[in-house]
Amino acid sequence: MKFFIKNSSLEKEKSDCIIIFVFKFCEFTHLKNHLNAFSSSYINNFIRRGDMQGKIGQTLLLHDVPNITSKRMLLVGCGDKNTLNRYYLGKIVKKTMKILNQFSIKNIIFSLNEINIENCDIYWSIRTIVNSINKYLYKSVKINTSFKKDIYLNSISLNVMKDKYFNIAKNALEHALAINSGIRAAKNLANLPPNVCNPLYLSLQAQKLSEKYKDKIDVTSIDVKEMHKLGMNAYIAVGSGSKNKPYMSVIKYSGKNKNKKNKVIVLIGKGLTFDSGGISIKPSKNMNEMKYDMCGAAAVYGTLIVAAKLNLPLTIIGILAGCENMPGGNAFRPGDILTTMSGKTVEVLNTDAEGRLVLCDVLTYVNRFSPNIVIDIATLTGACVIALGNHFSGFFSNDEKLACSLEKSSQQTNDKIWRLPLSREYEKELYSNFADFSNIGKGKAGAITAACFLYQFSKQYTWAHLDIAGTAWKSGKNQGATGRPVELLSQFLLNESDFFNFE
Ligand code: BES
Ligand code: MN
Ligand code: ZN
Repeated sequence: MKFFIKNSSLEKEKSDCIIIFVFKFCEFTHLKNHLNAFSSSYINNFIRRGDMQGKIGQTLLLHDVPNITSKRMLLVGCGDKNTLNRYYLGKIVKKTMKILNQFSIKNIIFSLNEINIENCDIYWSIRTIVNSINKYLYKSVKINTSFKKDIYLNSISLNVMKDKYFNIAKNALEHALAINSGIRAAKNLANLPPNVCNPLYLSLQAQKLSEKYKDKIDVTSIDVKEMHKLGMNAYIAVGSGSKNKPYMSVIKYSGKNKNKKNKVIVLIGKGLTFDSGGISIKPSKNMNEMKYDMCGAAAVYGTLIVAAKLNLPLTIIGILAGCENMPGGNAFRPGDILTTMSGKTVEVLNTDAEGRLVLCDVLTYVNRFSPNIVIDIATLTGACVIALGNHFSGFFSNDEKLACSLEKSSQQTNDKIWRLPLSREYEKELYSNFADFSNIGKGKAGAITAACFLYQFSKQYTWAHLDIAGTAWKSGKNQGATGRPVELLSQFLLNESDFFNFE
């Protein structure tokens, strides 16, 4: 799909269809400014007749509108002008796409003038529209089939009327497209089956980034041998039951920044390419979905693509913590005591609580980068799904400022997160008779005790943890990875680079 920003007079456009947003109770008086008077009164007739009341989701397709060179015009209802927000705009655009796809429409032009309203300025309108279109167009790659979604459309223009919006619109499109390719990359990687996407495969994908973005990205892959040298025994233990050996990829993105020293931001993604539970094996129902236990790593991978495409002036260390949790003769067991890289010891009471064991060593490892900010992203607990369902990711932080920035990015993108507490009472639940900690809590609030476990290893820096167990993929008929929270993280990085600030 090709996208263009335009700043032209709509009546002269030779597209297959012009898309015009119509609000409730609105006449098209202002359309006169950019559509000749004759056509706008023609359209107003339909509105007066009541064929288009501007109700949300209502549509009316007109053919051969007089004095307009485009073949069709689609009026799309947007509801009340004061209540339209990005969320509804996204839904409206999705509906628009469904309608357009019924006809052999190749290229369209959106008139953005009408929706440039307070709750949805031009920058965010474009981000929302482009994002929603790409979501609609996404179809997961099927293995060894030539399945393709029938889409006629190949070119979409977004028309802004005022000159002063042109550059903002261009930026918005650039951001939206970069974020879309990040989301896509994350989804494609996460949707792969676990017999293809194993820890080695993950690390090879990371390596490829350094080929594609030669001047910006360097990748190092750390294998078991090196993990041994580093003392990452908890990470190694999780991988020891599998024939697919663990690999930790360290993706270093260095953006150029003339003015000041770069901030160093570390993103750590849990990359369990399959989590069977190990010796504490999971029930077989839906166990296939544990291929998505690497969605944290996929999100980090996608986010680094966004950073590279946008040349963000930051230093970002992305870590894909690849590993596979399997039962086996060499597997770690309940009762084992592991000495983590930090020197602290952990008694394993459940081998299915493996994510935190992998992550605790990575959290220690990243100290070497003297990071300003560390964020880990993990499908960490089923308890988080019980607590928040599939809409909000759980989040935790040891720093108020970082928590605020993440919340802001979340509100901007509608990639929802909800903060949960870290506190001493929960930490006590990690008590072990034989080691510094046990790897599970004693009972309830499993998302919190898991986060408290990680917190023990991240005290040297500003840190946040995102538990995406409920949001990273969808189950059921439309099963598939969601690409979350690539958009949230990308927005966070955009805000951290503060060279574009529209809000
Ligand atoms: N990857 C799972 C968490 C998970 C489960 C995510 C279901 C999404 C859906 C994690 O490794 C796990 O198994 N956690 C256990 C922890 C428990 C043993 C303390 C869980 O949540 O059941
Ligand atoms: Mn597990
Ligand atoms: Zn897991």
